[in-house]
Amino acid sequence: MYRKIIPVLWLLSLGAQSRELKFPKGFKLGVATASYQIEGGWKADGKGPSVWDALTHDHPELIADHQTGDVACDSYHLWKDDITNLKNMKVDHYRFSLSWPRILPSGFSNVINPEGVKYYNNLIDGLIANKIEPMVTLFHWDLPQNLQNLGGWTNPLIADYFADFAKVAFKLFGDRVKYWITINEPASICVDVYEYDIGAPAFVRSPGIGTYLCGKTILLAHAKAFRLYDSEFRAAQKGKVGITIDSTWGEPKTNRSQDVEAAEREMQFGLGWWAHPIFSPQGDYPEVMKTVIAQNSKSENFSESRLPRLSPDEVKLIQGTFDFFGLNHYHTWLISDKKFPVGTSPSFIKDKGTEVSANPDWKPSPKIVPWGFRKLLNWVKKEYNNPLVIVTENGYGDAGGLDDKARVLFLKDFMEALLLAVLDDGCNVNGYTVWSIMDNMEWRSGYTVKFGLFDVNFTDPRRPRTPKTSAQFYQTVIKTRTLPE
Ligand code: NOJ
Repeated sequence: MYRKIIPVLWLLSLGAQSRELKFPKGFKLGVATASYQIEGGWKADGKGPSVWDALTHDHPELIADHQTGDVACDSYHLWKDDITNLKNMKVDHYRFSLSWPRILPSGFSNVINPEGVKYYNNLIDGLIANKIEPMVTLFHWDLPQNLQNLGGWTNPLIADYFADFAKVAFKLFGDRVKYWITINEPASICVDVYEYDIGAPAFVRSPGIGTYLCGKTILLAHAKAFRLYDSEFRAAQKGKVGITIDSTWGEPKTNRSQDVEAAEREMQFGLGWWAHPIFSPQGDYPEVMKTVIAQNSKSENFSESRLPRLSPDEVKLIQGTFDFFGLNHYHTWLISDKKFPVGTSPSFIKDKGTEVSANPDWKPSPKIVPWGFRKLLNWVKKEYNNPLVIVTENGYGDAGGLDDKARVLFLKDFMEALLLAVLDDGCNVNGYTVWSIMDNMEWRSGYTVKFGLFDVNFTDPRRPRTPKTSAQFYQTVIKTRTLPE
């Protein structure tokens, strides 16, 4: 009997392996960057300082290689080279971000910097001339320092200043930009800065308090920008507006019900925090978040929950503010149950357990977990009624080098997982974006971690870009719309 079954299974598995995976018609393949990480020109032509300029200048010791983004890839001057590379890759879209203080040096909309506007006009026009769709992120972490001086994202008024900035951007570029991402990775903004002090600005930790204040302002900022687009721009410009949320996949470490529940809680605290208020029909934070934080706050003698409440009007303002769901994904974690911690920082119930995917310091890991990506996409489908998802980032960090076979493997495996989610599970995803087209300034890791399809020589003042093996690979995928076996 076994002798019969085994060859059948073997044949089946061979069949599965040799299945050709094709991207569906209309599926978009692109690459991404962010202003601070590539532009340089940190005080060129009237640009104001951002929190990252301040941090890297005042505290170089906090950056792994003590470097800054003053020049970075020098895309402020070399944007034509970037367009040439994008064109040669034949990407469908290029996701980049606007530097808020390049356009509004003080952060406020009363003074617009014409040179900053010119830079983005050139870039956008150059992309369109080469049939590359611009996908623009309004905020990818380089907050004007002036606004940080007023409390940054813990000050609820920053949401209004963000909406003013969004208005300027929609007005100036919305005739040509049809894909807008309001905010990149809310969790990275609030958690990295207020919970762990690994972002910018530094030294403003306020775990479990500032973290959630920041979160509320971010949700309101996103919603206000979306509503503004609806009321003033949508009819004429006909674009799409979304937010990009980053999420790991939380896999229960065992099938004990406690671990299964813990993994679900982790998803709600990590992703639901942002997605539930926007994408769920009920709106507001996930129930489990509200309950747990309220309980913990009570036992710590706070008179109110540390999670600032969303009023019914705010719930209404935020709910439904999306045309698509931007998703960034890099890791999978194993999650096991842990008693809710009580103390000064009881905000996270993440028990990361044993790490199973590329690790948070981006050191190359032998274990990459593409199936976590497929499960994550299915979770989003189930939880939020299968919204239109654009994967706005996915990529592999290493120490550099042109023959980046590990990155090729990573990208291939993750695109395969994505295609299985689309073709077999019915997940409504229509775009995938590699982070990043080129090596760049990886925040507090400086230039020690590289994500690029193109190498950048940061010791050469001309910042030459050279395609890696992965650039070749992705170019072929884009051309054939098929994943190689
Ligand atoms: C997330 C961020 O959006 C991007 O800025 C960063 O460089 C990559 N992931 C890699 O860490």
